[in-house]
Amino acid sequence: MSKIVVTGGAGFIGSALVRALLEDGAQQVEVIDNLLTGRESNLEEVRGKVKWHRADICQYDQIAPVIAGADKVFHLAAIPSVPRSIHDPIPSHEVNINGSFNVFRAAHEGKAGRVVYAASSSAYGDTEVLPKVETMQTNPKSPYAAQKLMGEYYASVFHSCFGLETVSLRFFNVYGPRQDPSSPYSGVLSLFNKCLIERKVPTIFGDGEQSRDFTFVEDVAGLCLKASKAGPNALGKVYNAGNGGRFTLNMIWDLLQKIEGVSLPANYGPPRAGDVKHSQADTEAARRDLGHDPKFSIEEGLRRTLAWYKASEAVAAR
Ligand SMILES: NC(=O)c1ccc[n+]([C@@H]2O[C@H](COP(=O)([O-])OP(=O)(O)OC[C@H]3O[C@@H](n4cnc5c(N)ncnc54)[C@H](O)[C@@H]3O)[C@@H](O)[C@H]2O)c1
Repeated sequence: MSKIVVTGGAGFIGSALVRALLEDGAQQVEVIDNLLTGRESNLEEVRGKVKWHRADICQYDQIAPVIAGADKVFHLAAIPSVPRSIHDPIPSHEVNINGSFNVFRAAHEGKAGRVVYAASSSAYGDTEVLPKVETMQTNPKSPYAAQKLMGEYYASVFHSCFGLETVSLRFFNVYGPRQDPSSPYSGVLSLFNKCLIERKVPTIFGDGEQSRDFTFVEDVAGLCLKASKAGPNALGKVYNAGNGGRFTLNMIWDLLQKIEGVSLPANYGPPRAGDVKHSQADTEAARRDLGHDPKFSIEEGLRRTLAWYKASEAVAAR
């Protein structure tokens, strides 16, 4: 039976990936997570179908035996926040760089089959040209962006120097059910949904005209699966995992108010350090080499996400 390991599998995207793997017929899925930002409840529906390891990727000895012999490793564990990496850079560095090195090392020494690495579109920084193509010069603007880029370099070097099969996917702004809205570092769409349900006015940092390629979490999980099965020409490479579209924060907040039938004009605050102005993926290479085929329009994704937050609020209130 082939073993599949998901680091960060109790997180927002990791838990969606675990569900996608099980739906795809995976027999032995093992999760490594230290629950820093993830939650066991994210895996509630699949309890009993996954093997759970509460372990820290910074501790090589904790993760090496789990990763050894895995057919596929999906490396998503990280401290995934631009502002947090600026306010408190040391833990981000330790997890995102040293922890990632440990995962690649454990995969190589444990003869794992392939590592799919969750990279980030933040690597592009504020390059003027849109959409962002993988061949562009990177220009990280925050410790987080630099750290995630270093993970890509390690993925590529573990392939070229040690023959480990790796594919890096630059996730763009991922949104969907289970994204944690409880911290100031949370993703913007999770905070928007929370405001909408609580009928509170959100504060948008900057003028709200910054734009993002918002990508529904199930499309990202689907692409991770495809990357794990892609042919040899994808190995050692980096691909954009976006949707190919671009929406401003003002557009998204308007759309959410329309879906919910309310009027809550946003407040605006100063722009945040390290934030890029615009982001949009060129998806050509991912479509060509990996068969990327995102299914969810922004309207459909937002509706599903809002419905999930409402249902989980209802459960919490019981
Ligand atoms: N959400 C996005 O829009 C986005 C965009 C680009 C890249 N990414 C990347 O996708 C991945 C998943 O992000 P997410 O949005 O699901 O965030 P998340 O915070 O929900 O998931 C990260 C998971 O990693 C775990 N983790 C953190 N430190 C750990 C450690 N030392 N050992 C073991 N587990 C640890 C957390 O507990 C959490 O479950 C990250 O690598 C992130 O950098 C996310």
